Amino acid sequence: MHEPFAAVDIIRAKRDGGTLTPEQLDWVMDAYTRGVVAEEQMAALAMAVFLRGMDPAETARWTGAMIDSGERLALHVSRPTVDKHSTGGVGDKITLPLAPLVATCGAAVPQLSGRGLGHTGGTLDKLESIPGWRAQLSAHAIGRQLEDIGAVVCAATDTLAPADRKLYALRDVTATVESVPLIASSIMSKKIAEGAGGLVLDVKVGSGAFMGSLDEARVLAKTLVDIGTAHGLPTRALLTDMSTPLGAAVGNAVEVAEAVDVLRGEGPDDVVALTLALAREMLALAGHGDVDPGTVLASGEAYETWCRMISAQGGDPDAPLPKPDHVHVVEAPETGVLTTLDARAVGVAAWRLGAGRERKEDPVQAAAGVRCLAKPGERVEAGRPLLELHTDTPDAVPAALAALEGGIEVSDAAPDRTPWPATPVLDTVRS
Ligand code: URA
Repeated sequence: MHEPFAAVDIIRAKRDGGTLTPEQLDWVMDAYTRGVVAEEQMAALAMAVFLRGMDPAETARWTGAMIDSGERLALHVSRPTVDKHSTGGVGDKITLPLAPLVATCGAAVPQLSGRGLGHTGGTLDKLESIPGWRAQLSAHAIGRQLEDIGAVVCAATDTLAPADRKLYALRDVTATVESVPLIASSIMSKKIAEGAGGLVLDVKVGSGAFMGSLDEARVLAKTLVDIGTAHGLPTRALLTDMSTPLGAAVGNAVEVAEAVDVLRGEGPDDVVALTLALAREMLALAGHGDVDPGTVLASGEAYETWCRMISAQGGDPDAPLPKPDHVHVVEAPETGVLTTLDARAVGVAAWRLGAGRERKEDPVQAAAGVRCLAKPGERVEAGRPLLELHTDTPDAVPAALAALEGGIEVSDAAPDRTPWPATPVLDTVRS
């Protein structure tokens, strides 16, 4: 086949700060997917993009080229479809109560999710702690479940944006992950290919997130929303706090238990507040802005939808969740106000305890994780339990304790209540 471009010219153009043409962008992604552009050439181009950036038009086209490397899911569902994506946080189990809640309010939620890598957990890993639950569904089964129940959380198929999968693995080993256009195009290629009619993004801000500051997170949120708009997908983003874990539970089974608490009207305030804030945005995009998700949550119907959603994928919603073999309690070092409970420190501790994986092929422990027994701003007495570390492998506890070092601060000089937001929502970005 005659190739219209040479990869080296495209790399050089971006290296020198040029703007790539739509034809160059389409070709380079297609040729990379076909193996004509070699891994080392794509690595050089990714680094050039990392250093030089891409303008909004280039970013949107790069995203489109990644979508075109695979198939788009054709969702034939009678109700409006709307999806949510979180950029990843510690204790972020929001998908679990959110999908059945929004489904109960009248929209259909196709949530094609991934497994966790590093200190943020994966939704599929959490759900797999439910006895019998299966992540793998055919496109036909996804469509049927969406029509019947209105919510599906399952593994993304290999046919969605395969160029992104290849490129993400390459970025991982070439120090080119932390680039706004590359992160945004990677996320949006998968979400647009999934075929939902609207998308709400939860862009996390803080130590446990990709973006440490609100300004950086705003840039990512705007880039994500602009890509959605350029592709005709109504998209909104909430910027939400990730300086401390969301809720009390961090891990797999512990997070499922907390999600069930939310659906039964008993969840922690911050998890409930974020679930409702995201549900409102999703329902507005789905044309159901008149439905109050708070009233629906209080009715208990969303819990019924959860049970049906879990059962449809082979899970037993009534089965007891796995319990850890070993629980280690971390006590407050002194009396005062808990000023810091750092999200990243707790996330890494849960990962070390066995809740997360180092390499993609590693197994995870269903019962491993951390339960946080106090929130920043709370007054604690010396010796009071602050955290429970759950694991089946007690020899992992020292590594978890090392990860927590510096991540917990108690001050006797702080005021009794440092301002802890009742809701983690910091800002909203709409197109
Ligand atoms: N998540 C993705 O899907 N892609 C990235 O590049 C970063 C986070």
